[in-house]
Amino acid sequence: MSNIGLYDDKYKNFEWNDSAKELELHENEAKNIGYLCSDRICEKGFGQKLALIWEGFKGEVRRYTYDDIRLHSNAFAHYFTGLGLKPGDRICLFMDKIPELYISFLGVLKMGGIVQPLFSAFGEEALLTRIDDAKTSAILTTKKHAGKVRRILDKLPELKHIIIVDAEGELPGKNEKTYSMEKAPKVEHVDIYPVEPETPSVLHYTSGTTGKPKGALHVHSSIIAQYITAKWVLDLMLDDIYWCTADPGWVTGTSYGIIGPWSNGVTQAVYDIGFSTEKWYAFIERNRVTVWYSAPTAIRLLMKEGVEAVNKYDLSSLRHLISVGEPLNAEAVIWSEKAFGKPFHDSYWQTETGSIVITNFPGLKIKAGSMGKAFPGITATVVNQSTFEPITETGMVGLIALKPGWPSMFRTYWHNKEVYENKFKKGWYLCGDRASIDNEGYFWFVGRDDDVINTAGHLVGPFEIESALLEHQAVAESAAVGKPDPINMEVVKAFVALKPGFSPSSDLELDIINFIRKKLSPLAMPQEIEFVPSLPKTRSGKIMRRLLRAKEWGQEIGDTSTLEDE
Ligand code: PRX
Repeated sequence: MSNIGLYDDKYKNFEWNDSAKELELHENEAKNIGYLCSDRICEKGFGQKLALIWEGFKGEVRRYTYDDIRLHSNAFAHYFTGLGLKPGDRICLFMDKIPELYISFLGVLKMGGIVQPLFSAFGEEALLTRIDDAKTSAILTTKKHAGKVRRILDKLPELKHIIIVDAEGELPGKNEKTYSMEKAPKVEHVDIYPVEPETPSVLHYTSGTTGKPKGALHVHSSIIAQYITAKWVLDLMLDDIYWCTADPGWVTGTSYGIIGPWSNGVTQAVYDIGFSTEKWYAFIERNRVTVWYSAPTAIRLLMKEGVEAVNKYDLSSLRHLISVGEPLNAEAVIWSEKAFGKPFHDSYWQTETGSIVITNFPGLKIKAGSMGKAFPGITATVVNQSTFEPITETGMVGLIALKPGWPSMFRTYWHNKEVYENKFKKGWYLCGDRASIDNEGYFWFVGRDDDVINTAGHLVGPFEIESALLEHQAVAESAAVGKPDPINMEVVKAFVALKPGFSPSSDLELDIINFIRKKLSPLAMPQEIEFVPSLPKTRSGKIMRRLLRAKEWGQEIGDTSTLEDE
């Protein structure tokens, strides 16, 4: 049994408005995501139902009903307003996966603020770039991460409030205050900010090939797509225990780690630890997880431990498995059938799309290695890379293109309209990925169409890494590319040409690594540095990362006609 079978009439005749109607929204009406994910569920009689089962890495457990998240998010909203924060202000969440992160997310939305979630492992430089770009007014963090904020505060005149959610009493730093979610008085009623469909909601930063990371801006009506895709693709039902392994610092952790499950009134389980085969299986067993949304890198790590590790646990509660973020290799699908008795279903989407756009629905025959078909309401195709016309020939590789207009599509890049507009060609939104479509309409992922590195499902822009490298006194020029890795799909490799007077050595490599470690997030750290006399460039002086990358992957080098003369 599933919420949707591919051949249901519901599917064939689907319009986004059907989803809006399920959320009881009139045409062109919007309601605050904060309200739809908490108050509305309580109004339906589920106030005492568990919304969140949280486990920490030390074994702590915290549980929250829908009424608890309603009251706590009200209190957050009330607190933010009391600080003088206004609708439209950017409020950054910079925490590990603790309950305060999930619940304050709703609190920011309830008072009309724009949530800016940032991955807690980001280093100072990564944090600075994103907070400076968004001109963020407040940041919620914990003692563990506050130091990073303190060290960049002088460069952020707009950042007026640093709210530490796990400290008490007086704090040393400028603009710092404490807020305890558990101790704050419950707020039964708060004036929830009355949103329009286009009122901004979430600002997620994502990396591109050039320039600094860009803030993809989403709006409150995005929930229309997140709600229905969570229901149909993740197949969430009222009695499910759902586990999304993604961190809300990334879009999967918000669209499907907060908005999707809670707008469906589902109980979700959150585990604040990194990857661990044994601990993950034990978590599923303990909490009787039924629906599990994870990523290919994690599945590959599980595969390494084999079916023997699976068999030590009772994982019979698992009903539906879904994967996102990177190509899901055919072997992983086949292995998961063997190990869990059911396949992982692939789902493809992006920070910019806000919700799943291509996927293997429950009920759709899985072709191992294919991403599946377009979600109902999404028009997806592949287009020619020069003409941007849809490719009609079956199996030909082109650029994945979507017809704009689905509710959760990003509305702009923050203060970067030009780059936003560049993403559209001939009426198509171009995802920046290459794929082919077979004769049954299944999409087969080929690779990215730019130099962005996808390491363990996280996009890393070469620009950030190269900028960090260039700040080192010995580095004249640098290029960062992805090199193949059996687990993470790609890891970062940096090529470095040195300034006169410096010569390659392992000491220098170590020095450079230590230097950039402070600036980058662990994900963006190069696993290898190769010293080269110079980097290949186009005649106009642009570094040809494509060439360096092709060499790493053992591929044909392709057109080098614009390569600089030696
Ligand atoms: O290249 C595609 C890859 O991840 C990119 C989007 O990354 P991000 O914006 O960080 O969002 C990640 C979570 C939705 C895509 O442009 N990607 C995502 N899902 C898949 C994928 N590549 C292959 N197969 C997928 N299922």
